[in-house]
Amino acid sequence: MKVYLDNSATSWPKPPQVAEAITEFLTHSAASPGRSAHRMSVSAAREVFETRELIAELFNVPDSERVVFTSNATHALNIAIYGTLKKGDHVITTTFEHNSTIRPLRKLENEGVIEVTIIGCNKEGAFDIRELENSIRPNTRLVCAIHTSNVTGDVLPIASIGKVCKTNGIVFLVDASQAAGIIPIDMQTEDIDLLAFTGHKKLYAPTGIGGLCIANNQIAIQPLMQGGTGSRSESEYHPEFYPDMLEAGTLNTVGIIGLKAGINFVLSKGLDSIRQQQLRLTNQFIDGLKAIQGITVYRGIASSSYISVVSINVNGKTSSDVALQLDTEFGIMVRSGLHCSPLTHRLLGTFPQGTVRFSFGLFNTAEDINYTLDALRKIVTS
Ligand SMILES: Cc1ncc(COP(=O)(O)O)c(C=O)c1O
Repeated sequence: MKVYLDNSATSWPKPPQVAEAITEFLTHSAASPGRSAHRMSVSAAREVFETRELIAELFNVPDSERVVFTSNATHALNIAIYGTLKKGDHVITTTFEHNSTIRPLRKLENEGVIEVTIIGCNKEGAFDIRELENSIRPNTRLVCAIHTSNVTGDVLPIASIGKVCKTNGIVFLVDASQAAGIIPIDMQTEDIDLLAFTGHKKLYAPTGIGGLCIANNQIAIQPLMQGGTGSRSESEYHPEFYPDMLEAGTLNTVGIIGLKAGINFVLSKGLDSIRQQQLRLTNQFIDGLKAIQGITVYRGIASSSYISVVSINVNGKTSSDVALQLDTEFGIMVRSGLHCSPLTHRLLGTFPQGTVRFSFGLFNTAEDINYTLDALRKIVTS
């Protein structure tokens, strides 16, 4: 038996449509987009354009030219953070962030470029909007918030944070790595200025493709790289228009083709029905866990809204031992440790040992959950 419950790291399996679209592209038309004028190049450019349009529709980005392709969410977050911040800026972020956000911020802080405030939850266990308001300073330039925790599955109140940012003229950057493809995201109604996403998780694309969506032209972003764009080739200076400004070098067309097929797959299922299916599995798992003595479940830390990620510990065992036992004895694949999110584990009280994380995908079934609960019952008593 092989049960893959590591979909927050990357989703598996990918839908057959994704592999088919990539094979078709590689076999028939994998030319460089936006460079040459021949039919294959034009066809590749059309695919890139259509994928931008699809992403703009998915996240309600006002203009598809401000959908910028990146290698992944980490790349998008780095462009947003390094591209917008200047010496003397203050940034507010949350205790739920992934290292893809925390590390660039800490580097700039260590170099004396910016100041960083990290906010968390109030006594009632809800994300603390008041702490956000109280942390704002005259030089607060950016608020960075994870949409959905990759450790606990908690969904942050993005629209409320967006409103505070908009009222105070602060740029709002959202890390949608775990949310994109499972929770509806609307950049315009939620007042999101910059949205970073990755393709290989809940959008069912291959690894190596992601993006940064930019709400408007008012946000000045300095590119991380300069280079060939296929546009304005006569100039020795990098273009200053989107998307070329932030897309130096040949794009990952294979990834983009896979992303387009992945998003179409998600849209054909419908976000609502995806979330319901995922919550059914999650609730079945949590109900089952409640009946097993010796397991601690880390749930409902920041909100009552969550996605299909469950972190646990088995009393008396390390998270890595439990993950190893699940894999070697039962064929169940999960992730143990800190999940690139040390601050979340400090909040949970699970630093440095971490937790065992189970994350479900669209191809998991009720049988997978029952099998995993059975395995945990055996591990607890072993
Ligand atoms: C919340 C969150 N942010 C950022 C990332 C980074 O994604 P990628 O490795 O695709 O850049 C991840 C991936 O684990 C994540 O879960």
